Amino acid sequence: MKDTDWVFGVYRGQERLRDENGIKAHPTQKPLKLIQQVLLSASNKGDLVFDPFMGSGTTAVAAKKLGEKNIGIDTNEKYVKISERRIKELDEKANLFKTGKAERKNLQMELQVI
Ligand SMILES: C[S@@+](CC[C@H](N)C(=O)[O-])C[C@H]1O[C@@H](n2cnc3c(N)ncnc32)[C@H](O)[C@@H]1O
Repeated sequence: MKDTDWVFGVYRGQERLRDENGIKAHPTQKPLKLIQQVLLSASNKGDLVFDPFMGSGTTAVAAKKLGEKNIGIDTNEKYVKISERRIKELDEKANLFKTGKAERKNLQMELQVI
């Protein structure tokens, strides 16, 4: 493994969005932690993150958790609805899930170590 490699825990599937029949809601949903690290290395709190290929909205969720603004686009209405739902759920649980100052600092330190 190289010093520049990013290491993430095994994608155990709990995060994986599925429909009522257990089918993956989006074929290429990314791990939230991966996108979070990308945003931490490329943006600052308060920045506007634009994702023109939003898919299931992982980037929007990561941005919101980091206190960043987000605009997302997807041609598939089903995926837009999934993203909207994820963002709404995050709003509803804002106090539970919002990445606090301390957590952001920890994530940045993790990124530096990696
Ligand atoms: C690789 S996926 C994004 C996955 C996303 N990062 C996630 O975690 O769910 C790419 C998305 O781009 C959308 N897409 C394809 N062509 C598009 C276009 N011309 N404009 C906007 N979205 C498009 C597809 O519907 C698909 O959901």
